[in-house]
Amino acid sequence: FKTPAVENEPMRSYSPGSAERNALEAALVQMEQELPFEVPIIVNGKPVKTGKVAKQPIPQDHARHLCTYHEADPATVSAAIEGALAAKSSWESMPWPDRAAIFLKAADLVSGKYRYKLMAATMLGQGKNAWQAEIDAAAELADFFRFGVKFVEDLYAQQPVKNSKGAWNRVEYRALEGFVLAVSPFNFTAIGGNLPGAPALVGNVVVWKPSPAATYSNYLVYQILQEAGVPPGVIQFVPGPPPEVVAQAIEHPLFAALHFTGSTFIFKKLWKDIASNIDNYRSYPRIVGETGGKNFHVVHESAEVNNAVFQTVRGAFEYQGQKCSALSRLYVSSSVWNNGFKDKLLQEVAKIKVGPCQDFTNFMGPVIGRPAFDKITGYIQKAKDAGAEVLVGGSGDDSKGYFIQPTVLLSKDPKMVTFVEEIFGPVLSVYVFEDKDYEQTLELIDATTQYGLTGAIFASDRSALVLGTNKLRNAAGNVYYNEKCTGAVVGQQPFGGGRASGTNDKAGSISIFYRFVSARSIKENF
Ligand code: SER
Repeated sequence: FKTPAVENEPMRSYSPGSAERNALEAALVQMEQELPFEVPIIVNGKPVKTGKVAKQPIPQDHARHLCTYHEADPATVSAAIEGALAAKSSWESMPWPDRAAIFLKAADLVSGKYRYKLMAATMLGQGKNAWQAEIDAAAELADFFRFGVKFVEDLYAQQPVKNSKGAWNRVEYRALEGFVLAVSPFNFTAIGGNLPGAPALVGNVVVWKPSPAATYSNYLVYQILQEAGVPPGVIQFVPGPPPEVVAQAIEHPLFAALHFTGSTFIFKKLWKDIASNIDNYRSYPRIVGETGGKNFHVVHESAEVNNAVFQTVRGAFEYQGQKCSALSRLYVSSSVWNNGFKDKLLQEVAKIKVGPCQDFTNFMGPVIGRPAFDKITGYIQKAKDAGAEVLVGGSGDDSKGYFIQPTVLLSKDPKMVTFVEEIFGPVLSVYVFEDKDYEQTLELIDATTQYGLTGAIFASDRSALVLGTNKLRNAAGNVYYNEKCTGAVVGQQPFGGGRASGTNDKAGSISIFYRFVSARSIKENF
């Protein structure tokens, strides 16, 4: 059999008066009337309430919270792991078409019945505007599930190319022995779905610890998977406390893999913890992580100015710069900078409206929380102290929500701290280079940070694109020509980077699925 052909989920316009705009506004109003929600832990398909609760605040209005959620205690984490292991054998032996059908149905629930509810939860809880919420919670999430089915079908079809006479060689792609731990971030509801979803699709059982700042949207994703038919125990939804849940899972002898998106610091810590437990495991755990970024645009003298500015504004400031792929350092040739780029950039940034998600004219919303607000404004101060010029923005207002103005910093020191360290906020650092120094600037970009996630090169002279791509060989796992460095699409641009940005296993492609199967070769003689 063949699974149905897959397409990327189309975007809707949300123009005033459109049916989708009305439906989304109604979903927001209803969610505001009903909140705060109570989110339990889910073990073996059943809610568990430990009574130890924490809150997920609403970043645009931090006096309120979207939900309270129960935090797991050690007994609950144990029950989740043992329950997952008990669910394993029937899940991995379920015929592939039945597993596939569950995820195809989940994709339809995401893009259909629950579209606006998921978007509303992502807007209120994670501070996205309507379009950013749609790219994430409706389109990318549905795409991960739909394309995932296609990728796994292709993976299972990978078979030996030769048989000797009287024999048949074949390969079986088994689930890993043990359970997978998925640790997901706040910034994409879709990643919340994909981190447990991808390993489960190939027959694994998963203990899923969502981000505290995305608990409610991730709980909705869990419920959708359940409604689509993921059996009890196959994915255990185990919100916090994060360090304890993760530590307990990693200590278990049947810990088989980590599927992680989050900070470089935490990922390295978990890697060390896994290493120190290595003698206790039945198998070497698979470690798959997507971590930080310090992503760049480089604008060559031959670049088309209007496009380069437009892409730069979107790359740096959409979702307040809180995508791992977000642009945070810009290198512009002086002739382009002085002949329109600077003026246009400042005009465009000055036009950006910042505010709550219910006003659809706001391009930017709040940053995710108090620590993020303090960290980002702290970096702006550090840049000022280091002599950077604030060209636009530079301030924040946390009186009601965690709002920070889009900020552009100009510095003559390309090693200044905001060119080097990840900020994860709406702060763009600009360095202007002499046209003749393009090649030298590429070397500078490569050597400035420890990261290697995304980057973009703007040039109409193709040789400048080629030179950039060659010189920046390991500086980005995703490279774009004449387009912003964010917005990889499932099935179109496999996503991920190397160096300190991750294990580069490429979400949204077949590659990631290889990490969650353990292949067995069988030679049968007739
Ligand atoms: N995949 C997203 C992007 O490319 C980020 O996680 O922007």
